[in-house]
Amino acid sequence: MVRFDCAAALLLCSAVSTSALSHSAANPRSYAEKQFSQSFEDGYSILKHYGGNGPYSQRVSYGIERDTPSGCAVDQVISIQRHGERYPSSGAGATFEQTLAKVYSANITNWKGDLSFLDHWTYWVPNKCYYEAETWTGPYAGLLTAFRRGAEYRDRYGHLWDGQSVVPIFTSGYERVIETARKFGEGFFGYNYTHSAALNIISEDSSQGADSLTPTCDNDNDQKTCNALTNLLPQFYVAAERINSQNPGLNINASDVYNLMEMAAFELNARAFSDWINVFTLDEWVSFGYTQDLYYYYCAGPGDKNMNAVGAVYVNASLTLLNEGPSSGTIFFNFAHDTNITPIIGALGILLPNEDLPLDHIPFGNPWSTGNIVPMQGHLTIERLTCNKTALSPKGTYVRLVLNEAVVPFNSCQSGPGYSCPLANFTSTLKERLPNYTKTCQVPSSYPQYLDFWWKYNTTTTLNYQNGPIGCAEGTTLS
Ligand SMILES: *[C@@H]1O[C@H](CO)[C@@H](O)[C@H](O)[C@H]1NC(C)=O
Ligand SMILES: *[C@@H]1O[C@H](CO)[C@@H](O)[C@H](O)[C@H]1NC(C)=O
Ligand SMILES: *[C@@H]1O[C@H](CO)[C@@H](O)[C@H](O)[C@H]1NC(C)=O
Ligand SMILES: *[C@@H]1O[C@H](CO)[C@@H](O)[C@H](O)[C@H]1NC(C)=O
Ligand SMILES: *[C@@H]1O[C@H](CO)[C@@H](O)[C@H](O)[C@H]1NC(C)=O
Ligand SMILES: *[C@@H]1O[C@H](CO)[C@@H](O)[C@H](O)[C@H]1NC(C)=O
Ligand SMILES: *[C@@H]1O[C@H](CO)[C@@H](O)[C@H](O)[C@H]1NC(C)=O
Ligand SMILES: *[C@@H]1O[C@H](CO)[C@@H](O)[C@H](O)[C@H]1NC(C)=O
Repeated sequence: MVRFDCAAALLLCSAVSTSALSHSAANPRSYAEKQFSQSFEDGYSILKHYGGNGPYSQRVSYGIERDTPSGCAVDQVISIQRHGERYPSSGAGATFEQTLAKVYSANITNWKGDLSFLDHWTYWVPNKCYYEAETWTGPYAGLLTAFRRGAEYRDRYGHLWDGQSVVPIFTSGYERVIETARKFGEGFFGYNYTHSAALNIISEDSSQGADSLTPTCDNDNDQKTCNALTNLLPQFYVAAERINSQNPGLNINASDVYNLMEMAAFELNARAFSDWINVFTLDEWVSFGYTQDLYYYYCAGPGDKNMNAVGAVYVNASLTLLNEGPSSGTIFFNFAHDTNITPIIGALGILLPNEDLPLDHIPFGNPWSTGNIVPMQGHLTIERLTCNKTALSPKGTYVRLVLNEAVVPFNSCQSGPGYSCPLANFTSTLKERLPNYTKTCQVPSSYPQYLDFWWKYNTTTTLNYQNGPIGCAEGTTLS
C-alpha cells in the first residue's frame, strides 16, 4: 500500500505523497481533527514584545493576501530593509556587562528560582569586537535571515530582472548594513551575484544631505528625553523584587531588570535559546515592548515633529520612481537602519495612533507596535502593480505597501485589487502633505537637496564582497 511505504521509508514518502494524498482524499476526515486551530497563543508571542532588539518576525497581518492580486503584475519594487539580527552595540554591550557584573558580585554559588540556569550560563558575546556586528550563529542569525530574504524575493520579484542587466543594490555605509545587502544579493542573484549585482554604498555622513538613505536631522525631542522614555514601568520593580527574593544577597533594581530584558532579546540573535527570556513574565515583556514603542514613536517617528520630514526624502523619491515606472528601473533594493525606516512609516501616514502615545499606561491595540514595524531585518516594500479591469476597479496602475511581509492598506485609499491604492491617488495624497526635508532640517544649500542615487548609480561590481578583515581587533577579550 502506498501509505505503508510512506511510513516505512521516509525517503520514499515525498516521492509517493501525491498519490497518497489522492488516496486519502476520498476518506472522511477524523472527527477529532480540526481543520483550523482555535488557539491564538501566538498573539502573545515574545517576539512581538522586545521591540527592535531581537529576531525578525513577520508582521501580524490584517488577513490580506500577500501574493500579487489576480489580474495584476508587479512591474516595479522599491524596498528598504533594516540589517539582519546583530550583536548589541558597544554602548548596550557595556551596559549588559555592568549589569551582569552586579548580578555576579552577589557571590551566589547555587542560583535558585528563575535564575537557576545561571550556574551554567555564559555571556554569548565572545569578545568586544563582536559588538555592532551582524550575527552568523544560531537559527536567527542575521546573515542567514538576509540570505533567506534574498532567495524569497527572487521568487517574488525575479521576473523583474531580465537576466542580463547589472542591477544596483543600495546600502548605507555601515558595516552590518553592507553585509546584509551583500547576503541578500547573494540570495537574490544566486550564482549571478558576482557579475549581475552592483553594490552602491551611500555614505551615512550628513554631508550627503538629502541624497542619502540615512538623512539626519536634529531631534525635536532631545536625547535625554528619549532615554527617559524607555524608563521604568511598574512591572520592572515587581520583577526585581521577585528575583531578589529567590536569591538572598542579590540586589538588582528596576533599571537592571530593563537591561537584562534587553540583553535577553539580543541573546536570541546569536543563540537558539535564551534562558533569560523565561526569567520575566509575559506582562513584564508587554511593558518592555511598550517602552520601545515610546522610543520609536517620540524619537524616531511621528511623535517627533521633524521626523516626518526625514522620512519624506525616501517617500518623495519613491513617488518619482513610481510615476516614471519600469522605464526608470524595476528593482530598487535598499538597506539601512531601524531609525531610517520608522520616519518613512510616519511620512506615509500609516500606523498612526489616534493620539500621541500616553506615558502613564499602555494603550492596548496601539498600531505603532515596534515588534510589527522594525524587528531585526524589518523591511518596507512598495509594489507598483499594473492591473487589468475588475468589477470594482479600472485597468491601471496601483500601489501596495508591504511591511514585514504583511500588506498594509494606504489608509482609506484601498479601491484597487488586493486593497491597493490607485497610483494617482497615492501620489496626490502624499504630495499634498509631505514636509520639506531641507527646510525643516536646515540642510545647508551646499549639500545635495534631494535623493538622486537611484538615477545615478554605479554598475561596477568591485564592492560586492568584503575586501580585507571586518573591523575587529582579533583576540580582544571582555574586561
Ligand atoms: C490582463 O489581461 C490580458 C488579456 O486578457 C492578459 O493577457 C494578461 O495576462 C492579464 N494580466 C494579468 C497580470 O493577469
Ligand atoms: C564577593 O566576593 C568578592 C571577592 O571575594 C568580595 O570582594 C566581595 O565583597 C563579595 N561580595 C559580597 C556581596 O559578599
Ligand atoms: C547567470 O548564471 C548562470 C549560471 O551560472 C549563467 O549561465 C548565466 O550566464 C549568468 N547570467 C549572467 C547575466 O551572468
Ligand atoms: C560611484 O562611484 C564613484 C567613483 O568611485 C563614487 O564617487 C560615487 O559616489 C559612486 N556613486 C554611488 C551612488 O555609489
Ligand atoms: C539601579 O542601580 C544602578 C547601579 O547599579 C543605578 O545606576 C541605577 O540608577 C539604579 N536604578 C534605580 C531605578 O534605582
Ligand atoms: C522630490 O523629488 C524630486 C525628484 O525625484 C525632486 O526634484 C524634488 O525636489 C523633491 N522634492 C522635495 C520636497 O524634496
Ligand atoms: C482618493 O481616495 C480617497 C479615499 O478613497 C477618495 O476619497 C478620493 O476621492 C480619491 N481621489 C482620487 C483622485 O481618486
Ligand atoms: C524646500 O525648502 C527649500 C529651502 O527653504 C527650498 O529652497 C525648496 O525650494 C523647497 N522645496 C520644495 C519642493 O518646495
